[in-house]
Amino acid sequence: GNNVGKENGTCEGISEGEGSDEMVCGVGDGDQLERPGAAQGDALHLQRRVGLFSGVALIVGTMIGSGIFVSPSGLLVRTGSVGMSFLIWIACGVLSLLGALAYAELGTMNTSSGAEYAYFMDAFGPLPAFLFSWVSTLVLKPSQMAIICLSLAKYSVEAFYSIDCDPPPIVVKMVAVLAIMIILAINCYSVNLATSVMNLFTAAKLLAIAIVIGAGMYKLFEGNTEYLARPFEGTTYSMGNIATAFYTGLWAYDGWNNLNYVTEEIKNPSKNLPRSIAIAIPLVTICYVLINVSYLAVMSPAEMAESEAVAVTFGNRVLGVTAWLIPVSVTISTFGSAHGTLFAAGRLCFAASREGHLLNILSYVHVRRLTPAPGLIFHSLIAVAMVASGTIDSLIDFFSFTAWIFYGGAMLALIVMRYTRPNFPRPYKVPIIIPVLVLVISLYLIVAPIVDTPQIEYLYATFFILGGLIFYVPFVHYGYTSPWMEKFTVFCQLLFEVAPTQTLIG
Ligand code: ARG
Repeated sequence: GNNVGKENGTCEGISEGEGSDEMVCGVGDGDQLERPGAAQGDALHLQRRVGLFSGVALIVGTMIGSGIFVSPSGLLVRTGSVGMSFLIWIACGVLSLLGALAYAELGTMNTSSGAEYAYFMDAFGPLPAFLFSWVSTLVLKPSQMAIICLSLAKYSVEAFYSIDCDPPPIVVKMVAVLAIMIILAINCYSVNLATSVMNLFTAAKLLAIAIVIGAGMYKLFEGNTEYLARPFEGTTYSMGNIATAFYTGLWAYDGWNNLNYVTEEIKNPSKNLPRSIAIAIPLVTICYVLINVSYLAVMSPAEMAESEAVAVTFGNRVLGVTAWLIPVSVTISTFGSAHGTLFAAGRLCFAASREGHLLNILSYVHVRRLTPAPGLIFHSLIAVAMVASGTIDSLIDFFSFTAWIFYGGAMLALIVMRYTRPNFPRPYKVPIIIPVLVLVISLYLIVAPIVDTPQIEYLYATFFILGGLIFYVPFVHYGYTSPWMEKFTVFCQLLFEVAPTQTLIG
């Protein structure tokens, strides 16, 4: 069906404009590159639509979410001084840029979507790739959703409470769950709606950032520089504190690898992938540093460390009667980012399930709406459980710890493939020192917090990763299926009205 193909195309699309029906899901388009890692029957294959501009927008839109509105306080507490916190904000930007440049080599070498999943498959084989998809579906993507929606709730609820009275946690959690439900509904309803929502919210978020920076710079030029005057007073030098401060900062930058999930849709990826990275990440770094300067132009480090919602405090002091702009913009920014995160999670489900690495049902799409509903519902349920059980800070540590194990793994994959696949075409090649450096830093980021301030979250994360092995051996390696599981799949198919993509494209 033409109709099916068309909608399905947008299912993965960061689409701008309509292509002809066949082109959207045309497997054999002239401008498609050969994809070394791609399996047969990959019906969800898209036209290349993401150019330089949308590439940059996609990275910036994902990176700017909740972090810049919640992390500055935590980062200040963990580093103890303004100067050190600025150094960490900048270092996080540089680290993200270096990591992303290494991802550019990986992404131009293996142009199949799914990022880490595809690279692990190439470099280390199916087991590490499986463990990655296991951890991403069960932990990484849901915890991203949970953190972003908790921040959304905190800011939107804060607006209704007086300055010296914190909103009750239960209210915050309920709003977060509500946000997850709305985002889930949008994503299940229609892919076209989902892409429009994403574009609209990205634009709104850039406006919000511009307002904060503009107002802050104005205050600064009025002469409010006292809090920036003695930057290094009170700095901590504890290695564990520095590492967890990095976690806080790196959360705000997370998403720097997001374009690698959609390499199959980038026009001329060998040029546009590295270029988008080289523009987007420095741009975000500059925004973040300037926002921090703005915050400190109107409040002291102590006030900032205490503030439950820095941007609201900022708005109340600077924007006068238009202070309501801040909670509204933060809600928009976080909503957009959570929405994009769930959207991307669906894509990962496809990449992993076409190799038989996830429950089949998770890769099915709704027969009429053509959205990957089961995967989305599954992610959202786990996110709700995380919202119920965690706090923003504990979830950020938990997330960053786990994520950096895999970012480090991707660096290792790059280095290994320089030896095991020396003749693979590499349209963009990073100096080898970059992945080596990022690998060393990621090892530090994983080990230092455990040694310095052990938290139960790190243990949970490790168990989760290893728990994947228990499932891998019978279900993936030996391909075991029980009649019970087949019944369950059929039951879910009928309940959610979903079907495998191959039968739809047929
Ligand atoms: N950096 C974003 C924020 O500050 C979170 C991005 C989540 N990561 C992702 N790959 N979607 O809220």
